[in-house]
Amino acid sequence: MQEIVRKADGCRVCGRDDWLDVVSFGETPLAGDFLDPDAPIGAERRVPLEVVVCRGCRLMSLRHVVDPEAMFGHYRYVSSESETIMSHMRRLVADADLAEGDLVVEFGSNTGVHLDLFRRAGMRVAGVDPARNLAEIANARGVETVPEPFTGRVGARLTERHGRARLVLGRQCFAHIDGVHEVLDGVTAVLDPGGVLTIEVPYLVELLANDEFDTIFHEHLSYFSLGTLRTLFGMHGLDLVDVRTAPVHGGSIVVSAAPRGAGRPERPAVARMLAREDALGLSGDGPYLEFARHTEAARAEIGDLIRSLAAEGRTVAGYGAPAKGATLLNACGLTREQVLFCTDTTQLKQGRLMPGSRVPIVSPEEGLARRPDYFLLLAWNYADEIIAREGAYLEAGGRFIVPVPRPRFVTAPSAVPAP
Ligand code: TYD
Ligand code: ZN
Repeated sequence: MQEIVRKADGCRVCGRDDWLDVVSFGETPLAGDFLDPDAPIGAERRVPLEVVVCRGCRLMSLRHVVDPEAMFGHYRYVSSESETIMSHMRRLVADADLAEGDLVVEFGSNTGVHLDLFRRAGMRVAGVDPARNLAEIANARGVETVPEPFTGRVGARLTERHGRARLVLGRQCFAHIDGVHEVLDGVTAVLDPGGVLTIEVPYLVELLANDEFDTIFHEHLSYFSLGTLRTLFGMHGLDLVDVRTAPVHGGSIVVSAAPRGAGRPERPAVARMLAREDALGLSGDGPYLEFARHTEAARAEIGDLIRSLAAEGRTVAGYGAPAKGATLLNACGLTREQVLFCTDTTQLKQGRLMPGSRVPIVSPEEGLARRPDYFLLLAWNYADEIIAREGAYLEAGGRFIVPVPRPRFVTAPSAVPAP
């Protein structure tokens, strides 16, 4: 494994090498390594999964960094076109302060779904994504996408080709990137002096408050607070101008920054959120160590619950095969002995096995037809949408187990309570 993983020499934001150890999941398979059904035992690439906090800038991050090409060169995570995410993206388009013909550059643009919405609203768009298989899909849909990591060089090339961007966007990818300074070099190379950088990341405070331990996997290198982002952006001459929360991926923040001196006022939400982070004690060790204790308790509780259901002869399957589901099954010691299969809408995942637990992935149609007694809702970040859609399964006596923050059962309103 030596070739694809290295231990971080210093914090990716501030460079210090002084860490608080928070929690360790041990040698863990890469959550995106969905296996061929006939893959030999041990085929998964295993890498230590250890969470630390930098004592300098308080960045929470992973101690080990997997070579991005190994994770993202061929990527099976396809941008969600679920109702939850589509309506969120449409709102970002509607709220963006842009005129027709303005350039929008998105990094981590995946299959170009979001840029397509901007294009339909009259903007010019350009995407950047290191996943060649996904960039190809984006290009095919007419969203011109550079199949490379976003760097100063790529930013300069985009400027040469298209001019400067009024909006540079990075949705749910900034926390996946080790070279955050290179990305910000890319941003400054293409961003118009009067433009805005907007990034969206899962919010550290939500992760800690809701014990979202399963969102910790090798692709998620950083777990950002607004305070740490302010430090990072400040190093590149970018000042925070706005922040808002978004109910996606377990609770995210959409953070906007602008080149210093552009005269964009800072919205009051920024100071409010920074003050709240101070009040929560994020600059001390307490919240992280408390999270570690809760994580250990949740791993045991979820594992014991599913094992006892299986021991009673109940059938349990996973709903969704997200990376966080792979993490949850492995962290709770669950295998296909307890969890018969997972359903997933992503065709690239169907017919494969979850890494580590080796639970087979099937289509939602097949999974629903097999009618397990319980669906463990691994894609719990879409709970409202999914539970509303699966009324027929519930009415027929099926039950959901929502694992996070703490396992709870969902039954049809008319059904008898779950044991
Ligand atoms: P997601 O939570 O977006 O990401 P991550 O992999 O980072 O944890 O993944 C959700 C997965 O769930 C994705 O593979 C698609 C799948 N899914 C379904 O199977 N059915 C659904 O109704 C929804 C909304 C998602
Ligand atoms: Zn740091």
